[in-house]
Amino acid sequence: MKTEKIDVISGDREKGIARAGEILRRGGTVAIPTETVYGLAASALDDGAIEKVFLAKGRPQNNPLIVHISDIKMLEDVARDIPDAAYRLAETFWPGPLTMVLRRKDAVASRVSAGLDTVAVRMPASKAARDIIEASGVPLAAPSANISGSPSPTAAAHVIHDLDGKVDAIVCGEDCKVGVESTVVALFSDPPRILRPGAVTAEELSDILPGLVIDKAVLSEPESGEAVASPGMLYKHYAPKTETFLIEGESKNYIDFVNSKGDCAAVCFDGEAARITVKKLAYGAQNDGDALAKNLFSVLRAVDALGAKRVYVHAPDKRGIGLAVYNRLLRAAGFKVIKL
Ligand code: TXA
Ligand code: MG
Repeated sequence: MKTEKIDVISGDREKGIARAGEILRRGGTVAIPTETVYGLAASALDDGAIEKVFLAKGRPQNNPLIVHISDIKMLEDVARDIPDAAYRLAETFWPGPLTMVLRRKDAVASRVSAGLDTVAVRMPASKAARDIIEASGVPLAAPSANISGSPSPTAAAHVIHDLDGKVDAIVCGEDCKVGVESTVVALFSDPPRILRPGAVTAEELSDILPGLVIDKAVLSEPESGEAVASPGMLYKHYAPKTETFLIEGESKNYIDFVNSKGDCAAVCFDGEAARITVKKLAYGAQNDGDALAKNLFSVLRAVDALGAKRVYVHAPDKRGIGLAVYNRLLRAAGFKVIKL
């Protein structure tokens, strides 16, 4: 398949957005920029279009997709029995990196929800994403635009690397400002539950959702055969090909550890790089969670090129957006954590 590249930065933005909308309206697949990660979009009302998304990504059929809307009025087209808390959250955090899981309306293609009675919905902050939704005239289901299992794409080049030849078009826009996927919160159950942490933090959500809990799958490995509230949490994910370990501990201990290891690489904090003698990539300052989130996936994508046998990633603090970074790294490492 020839994949059309639509450049909305140096090309004609208006024409590009209209073209993306046209392909989507006709049941095609188009990768689009959002503020979190690039998404692979298709009409959420069209089972045939959704099937193409699963095929292009090699995504397990039982892992449901997030539906993206451009206007709060679209929420009632895709969800029903919407609690007041959802509107309060929308007022505070939409457009933005928050996904709410609600009861599903039948209009939503059944494949989107992988057979569940619920639907995950978000209104992205990215203006390009909202303009494309509007141009398409339909809500858009969009998982991250990567090959299933590999690090999520935060730049158009990552999407081209993974999906060129497998989708109808790729909209090449800005690099993603947030860098980790949206926070997913289940509102159909009591108490409300964070299924996946993101840039909208547990601390911020608790103000509107008293009693909010964090699903145990966020920080621990599901037992085999265990039912998981968010099927995406089941899989090893975001992983470089190089065997990855997550290292917890103080800077000095981490630096001594990697320096003693020989054939390995380090993914470290900015301030540590100068004292590390093995191959290394820094992903931000230790106290700058936003930077760690923004750089995480591009650094994980660059790890394999270092040609090391193992990579040791220095784990961030779990507060604020750090919880999201930690959650992704835990999966990238296949839950292999070393505490120093
Ligand atoms: O930031 C994001 O959310 C990005 C951009 C493109 O918007 N999208 C994204 O999609 O990360 P994806 O497919 O990579 O992750 C969707 C997550 C998965 O963990 C999935 O299991 C969960 O949301 N999910 C989707 N629908 C659900 C539902 N009905 N119930 C529970 N979890 C659901
Ligand atoms: Mg994903």
